[in-house]
Amino acid sequence: MLKGKKIVLGVTGSIAAYKAAVLVRLLVKEGAEVQVVMTPSAKEFITPLTLSTLSGRPVLSEFFNTGNGSWHSHVELGLWADAMIVAPATASTLGKMAAGVADNLLVTTYMSMKAPVFIAPAMDLDMYAHPATVHNIGTLKAYGNHIIEAAAGELASHLCGKGRMEEPENIVKALKDFFLTDRDLEGKRVLITAGPTYEKIDPVRFIGNYSSGKMGFAIAAECARRGAAVTLVAGPVSLPTPHPAIERIDVESAREMCETAVAVFPSCDAAVLSAAVADYRPAVQASSKIKRTSDGMTIDLEANPDIAATLGRAKKEGQCLAGFALETDNAEENACKKLEKKNLDFIVLNSLEDEGAGFSCDTNKVTIIDRNGKNAYPLKSKAGVAKDVVSHLAKLLMLLVMLFVPSFASAEGEELNATVNLNSSKVQGSNTEVFTMLRDALDEFINTRKWTTNFYEENERIMCSFNFVVNSYANDGSFDCSLMVQASRPVFGSSYNSVLFKYEDPSVKFKYQPYDRLEFIEDNLDNNLTAVIAFYVYMIIGMDLDSMGELGGSEFLNKALTIANNAQNLGDSGWRAGGSDNNRHSIIDDYMNGALEPVRKLMYKYHRLGLDTMFKSADGGRKAITESIKLLKQAYDDRPMAYFTELFTEYKVDEIVNVYSKCTPEEKKDVVKILSEINPSLSSEWDKITRNNN
Ligand code: CTP
Repeated sequence: MLKGKKIVLGVTGSIAAYKAAVLVRLLVKEGAEVQVVMTPSAKEFITPLTLSTLSGRPVLSEFFNTGNGSWHSHVELGLWADAMIVAPATASTLGKMAAGVADNLLVTTYMSMKAPVFIAPAMDLDMYAHPATVHNIGTLKAYGNHIIEAAAGELASHLCGKGRMEEPENIVKALKDFFLTDRDLEGKRVLITAGPTYEKIDPVRFIGNYSSGKMGFAIAAECARRGAAVTLVAGPVSLPTPHPAIERIDVESAREMCETAVAVFPSCDAAVLSAAVADYRPAVQASSKIKRTSDGMTIDLEANPDIAATLGRAKKEGQCLAGFALETDNAEENACKKLEKKNLDFIVLNSLEDEGAGFSCDTNKVTIIDRNGKNAYPLKSKAGVAKDVVSHLAKLLMLLVMLFVPSFASAEGEELNATVNLNSSKVQGSNTEVFTMLRDALDEFINTRKWTTNFYEENERIMCSFNFVVNSYANDGSFDCSLMVQASRPVFGSSYNSVLFKYEDPSVKFKYQPYDRLEFIEDNLDNNLTAVIAFYVYMIIGMDLDSMGELGGSEFLNKALTIANNAQNLGDSGWRAGGSDNNRHSIIDDYMNGALEPVRKLMYKYHRLGLDTMFKSADGGRKAITESIKLLKQAYDDRPMAYFTELFTEYKVDEIVNVYSKCTPEEKKDVVKILSEINPSLSSEWDKITRNNN
């Protein structure tokens, strides 16, 4: 995503300047060209030599080159860059940028910048909270800059609080998200409420609920990723802010949440109210701890404000308001009533009766209801549900602008029906949440990406499985997994499936951190995990189409081949071309090699003319399979070193033994002879064909 992007990195005089080195390294690793511009005081914290060495370009700091007097053109830099990052940005630089005090090269470059600007402040907590800083950040935001909010933690002053520069990894993530194509909420402002509310009984007790906040946080992350300015009003939850571009306001009670939401909503284009707001609070909140008495006790409750209804009344033309409904009885009817009563534009219904849906799960199963109808979605990860909810929101916002509201349709991929398993038992003791999130993200990625423009009916989806075993995992998100990929297709007129492809990939190395979005961009292979998945998916789709029509899968098999060829620099031995290793590259290289074209042709003969016709004519079907095995032999003779012929016999062995269980001794003899030559290591299996005397 950042490959070839030109980035100006402005570094100012903060203790966090040392992180600029990591930032430069990460950007360069992503393939970006980085030009560092430093303020004079930044040089007190990190040397220009470090940054010029890492970026491979001289660092700029003065208006003139002191050696030859030539001018360092900030105007040219402003035109050259695809983005500017100011990280760390001190309070002083923020002030100068907000006020246009152009007394150094960094601020002049900023003021000449034609590209989007990202600002990552870093300072002490009191300075960060000071009204002057708050005002300057507000001004810079209003000018259209992207503020990457400071994180909370220990500061250089040894105080703890908000002010630490966001980690370089997250800054790069914000930048990558910006350059993603599906930024359909760019320029929109979205308010999200999330989590439970706590209603105080006394200083140590409260009335609350089990809401984890995960759903609302996932929606906030998705909105931010798609370019929206997000204000996340969060009840008491123990979740980190999921995206650096989110402004988070923590509240405790329903009244605090309501006050904040009412203040923020007028400047927003949309609000998604996912909080589980307590409907009642104790009428009296004791100022000191209530003592136990021998009697029972009664707490009088009074109603809390209904935030959704309050915003529904305040809603202006063009604003979109969405709510959630958690129902146990008459789910749809009650959800529709809430939609009307609270003046919502759509409501996301989840039923507690659905397994895997609800408060503490990582999955959810929802139905989105608006005034034009409803759309029920299957069980998905909360990130997947967030994607659906935000897609619906984006669509409605667009339609509100056009003052036209048609019904909606799902845009999910339909090619694969994949199951994804991730076995992490070998790395027990590690943080297990990351494994669940990775599994869900993979499931989502494989099953909902549109891999083709072909139309697949539900019953035509290709059955496949991706079984990962985590062999090693480190806290920086480095994984090494083995991966068993298997695909099968139904045999026409029968109840059984035939294996289309099966391969155990011994090692797939990649990086994954919670909330990372799995993305695959064909001409930019920067993520080995999605490159590997895309490779197998295209291979499977191509082989399936080969089995439907002779050489029918070329388009997709060529995509797999291109990935294998382009992935040479991803540092994963599974792609290594040329050597004697059997790997992803050799499989597709064999399969698409002209000399092995008979192998591709055999797919159609074996599956379509062979297996599919066996149910009406066993002899005819088997004859076609024998012909296909002869094609396999032809390919083997032409290229005995080709791995694919061996692999094919390995995953088809049981099926082949079964196919030839009933045939003449001559047929058995012929086929056993061929198969034993192609794969002698399976001779005991092939012998079973001869021994079967049916
Ligand atoms: N909601 C809100 N403020 C409240 C109660 C609910 O903003 N005081 C919002 C929720 O965030 C959700 C929607 O209203 O988006 C529906 O919440 P729900 O609790 O299902 O509805 P209630 O109106 O509380 O109805 P009931 O408790 O009877 O189901």
